[in-house]
Amino acid sequence: MGSVDIKKQAPNVARMKILGANVVEVTHGLQTLKEAVDAAFDAYSKEYKDSIYCIGSVLGPHPFPMMVRDFQSIVGIEAREQFVEMTGHLPSSIVACVGGGSNAAGLFAGFLNDPVDIYGVEPLGRGPKLGDHAASLKYGTEGIMHGFNSIMLKDENGDPAPVYSVASGLDYPSSGPEHAFLHDIGRVVYDVIDDEETIDAFFALSRLEGIIPAIESAHAVAYGMKLAKKMDKGSILINLSGRGDKDMDYVIDNYGIR
Ligand SMILES: Cc1ncc(COP(=O)(O)O)c(C=O)c1O
Repeated sequence: MGSVDIKKQAPNVARMKILGANVVEVTHGLQTLKEAVDAAFDAYSKEYKDSIYCIGSVLGPHPFPMMVRDFQSIVGIEAREQFVEMTGHLPSSIVACVGGGSNAAGLFAGFLNDPVDIYGVEPLGRGPKLGDHAASLKYGTEGIMHGFNSIMLKDENGDPAPVYSVASGLDYPSSGPEHAFLHDIGRVVYDVIDDEETIDAFFALSRLEGIIPAIESAHAVAYGMKLAKKMDKGSILINLSGRGDKDMDYVIDNYGIR
């Protein structure tokens, strides 16, 4: 885990250590998610005889994107069943945040064959300038990294560009290959939400529903709220990919109480 994220997500690090994990700090580059994935691959390529590579997102060489998508698809299948049970119909739109893309791939898998509008939300961070965001599907081009071919944000040499997001989990210069496909065939609309809109949504969901969302998930909440304003009827299903416990200290220290 990158040093920057170790500080930003201190409660998660404490939890992992209590549960017996050895958390290895990655101190090079931007010290965030991409460098952590680089380091994990590097370690695995040296120790592949005695270790197993695990990844929580739809990234990396085949079959990791497919495996993670299939495991996560239970979320989409159950969300669809529950939504129909509760309302008697399908949602008109579904929304999920996209970092590497696993929570989105899982949710979308339940609805791809339905007449439902699907939105993936990427982090616009501080703005559209390269280096200020991590919206790879919106602003990137075809590229290869970490053993998969997808849409990627690149620097002037064609290498993965530096990226930024307030959400440590969305701070990655590409997204899984299936998202590139869904983007290219136009089945999913990939759009962006910036840091400020995210923090507003973090507080809005907390105040209105008593649910403190992860900063990653707050991107999807912000987009759902914007979308709702444009619709006169219909319903929106928003994927809450994680709880905000891990983010509470960071938000208060950096943004105060809104
Ligand atoms: C709560 C939460 N949501 C979303 C993500 C983004 O990952 P993915 O796009 O693979 O769902 C992360 C990544 O760490 C996360 O912690």
